[in-house]
Amino acid sequence: MRGFALSLWLACTAIGAQAQTLDVLHWWTSAGERRAVDQLVQQLDRRGIAWRDAAIPGGGGGGAMKVLNSRVLARDPPDAAQVIGRTLADWSDLGLVLPLDEVAQRNRWSQSLFPLVQRVITHRGRIVAAPLGVHRINTLFFNQRVWAQLKLGAPKTWGDVEQAAAALRRAGVAPFAWSDEPWQIATVFETLLLSEGGPALYGELAATQRWQAWQDPRVAKALERLRWLRRLNGETAIEQRWTASARQLFTGDAGMLIMGDWADGELVAWGAQAGRDYGCTPVPDTAGMHLYSIDTLAMLVGTRKREAEQERMAEVVVSPAAQLAYNQAKGSVPVRDDIDPTQLDDCARDSWQTLKRADSPLLPSIAHRMAADEATKDALADALHRFVKDPAVTPARAQERLVALIRSAARATPPP
Ligand code: GAL
Repeated sequence: MRGFALSLWLACTAIGAQAQTLDVLHWWTSAGERRAVDQLVQQLDRRGIAWRDAAIPGGGGGGAMKVLNSRVLARDPPDAAQVIGRTLADWSDLGLVLPLDEVAQRNRWSQSLFPLVQRVITHRGRIVAAPLGVHRINTLFFNQRVWAQLKLGAPKTWGDVEQAAAALRRAGVAPFAWSDEPWQIATVFETLLLSEGGPALYGELAATQRWQAWQDPRVAKALERLRWLRRLNGETAIEQRWTASARQLFTGDAGMLIMGDWADGELVAWGAQAGRDYGCTPVPDTAGMHLYSIDTLAMLVGTRKREAEQERMAEVVVSPAAQLAYNQAKGSVPVRDDIDPTQLDDCARDSWQTLKRADSPLLPSIAHRMAADEATKDALADALHRFVKDPAVTPARAQERLVALIRSAARATPPP
């Protein structure tokens, strides 16, 4: 009898333990991203939820989204996944995500989340994801030690950037850390669209339904700036991961980097400190503006009954303690406006204050799914990749291709 009782107890414990483990698919595999995930894992562990990692490497999430699509089509969805922006809206329309209205109500999310965040996680009146952090794309990082050696001022204007680039080249330092990976080119380009076109035009471009906005001459100006930036690194192909670019900035092999502020989390993971080892400033002519990408965790509807644990996961990751610990490591800012911003580093604090100011222009990242769907985003990145790699393609020709691409996407997708 004793043996039977023991095996019954073990079986129940195993089922109990199994029921508390959630599969999470994401693409946070760099040093900084891993540190941020570990903060969530610890917070969840304290609440009896075990995070089983299904991490798919590859910056920008292109690979992760392919794997996630195939798992969902194979009726084997993870319990939770990094589903963000337009993908989140499309997936909730397909009934693939668990609504979280009760969790939101019970935890008073509407009173503590930034209004922008509340808007991004709400689709057709339902709360469809747990928000994790707000990244700022229009961030220019510069190596503080190199700047001090060359007696350079902070690169606030394009004139400052051009002078710094000349001084860096004379000193044998690459002016910009750069990668030809399409998603990274698209990330840089959208900051140039905002810089050249301003928030009103950028808002039109990001709406993507109004394809005529892409015919504006300021789009060609942004393409010219993109070509100038690429030419600073010569003709050799550089298809490096974003972490390699961040590394070049960290070591001083490159002076500047335009990248989402997940690079801040990466630099911190390597022991660097904002304000001492590196500085960050908005991309010239985008100061006071927030080109955002909001990371969200969607709870996926699956064959295994997991709602109670999924709701608890949503509750925990939005809690003040988890929010501070995760975002300090990730380089993004908390989704709540009730945390103490003095606990954020110099880079994140400026992002936070910009978000907090009622009159700040808040613009959705096209390159990171906040505006266009996956197919349009990828097509844009590929068109920009072709322009950057082929000097024979003029800005005017590249602009024609962008207009044609957006026009066909506008026809294909009815306005949301
Ligand atoms: C973004 C994502 C960030 C970071 C970045 C680099 O799309 O929202 O959290 O992972 O890609 O991979």
